[in-house]
This record gives sequence, C-alpha cells and structure tokens, in this order.
Amino acid sequence: MTEPDPPLFYKCHIFVCCNKRPDGHPRGSCAARGSEKLRDYMKARMKELRVPQSRVNSAGCLERCEFGPALVIYPEGVWYQARTNADIDEILDTHILHGGRVARLMLTEHDVPPPKA
Ligand code: FES
Repeated sequence: MTEPDPPLFYKCHIFVCCNKRPDGHPRGSCAARGSEKLRDYMKARMKELRVPQSRVNSAGCLERCEFGPALVIYPEGVWYQARTNADIDEILDTHILHGGRVARLMLTEHDVPPPKA
C-alpha cells in the first residue's frame, strides 16, 4: 500500500513557456511570440484577483512550440495557447475563477509537434 499524496501546495499552478530561440529558428518559440509579456500580465491579474494558493511560473520549453505561446494549468493539466491579454483574461475568468474551459484556446491531444527528423 502506498502513502497518500500530501495535499496540493498550490491549488492552481500555471506554467507559461518563456523559452526563447534565435530569430529564424524553424520551430519558433513562445518568447518570440510574446509569452513573456503574457506571463507578466497573467501574474499581475492573478495578484489583483487574489486567487488563493496559486502561482504563475515561467517555464522552459514545454515541447509544444508550434502551438505557442503555450501555458499549462495544474492540477488539471489543461493546456492553452494564449496570444493576447484578452485570451489571458478569458482563461482567468472562465477556467480559474469559474472552473470552466476555454475550448477555442485549448490544446488537445491532436496538437502535437511534428516528428523530429
Ligand atoms: S518554445 Fe514554448 S513550448 Fe517550446
């Protein structure tokens, strides 16, 4: 019998890919698509909204570069592609505050990078 997991430290833990590749890289990168500003905006809004037990962290490459700017929300493990502050607002309002999903921005099991050559 295994020990039960400890309670979640963060009830909402968001990782925003801020990986940056050189200009012209074939895969591009989330930072090149503006993810750092989106992360900053999301952090600021989360603070304003006072979401308890939550954190927004920068992440290195999450390996879904082609679908970036990519972010993932745990513990649900739901991924989104957010391009604008309005996208972030919609994710915060619908997903974080109301437990819903923003279907138009969600990455699915079909959103996978092309196989490596
Ligand atoms: S650069 Fe963001 S997922 Fe790879």
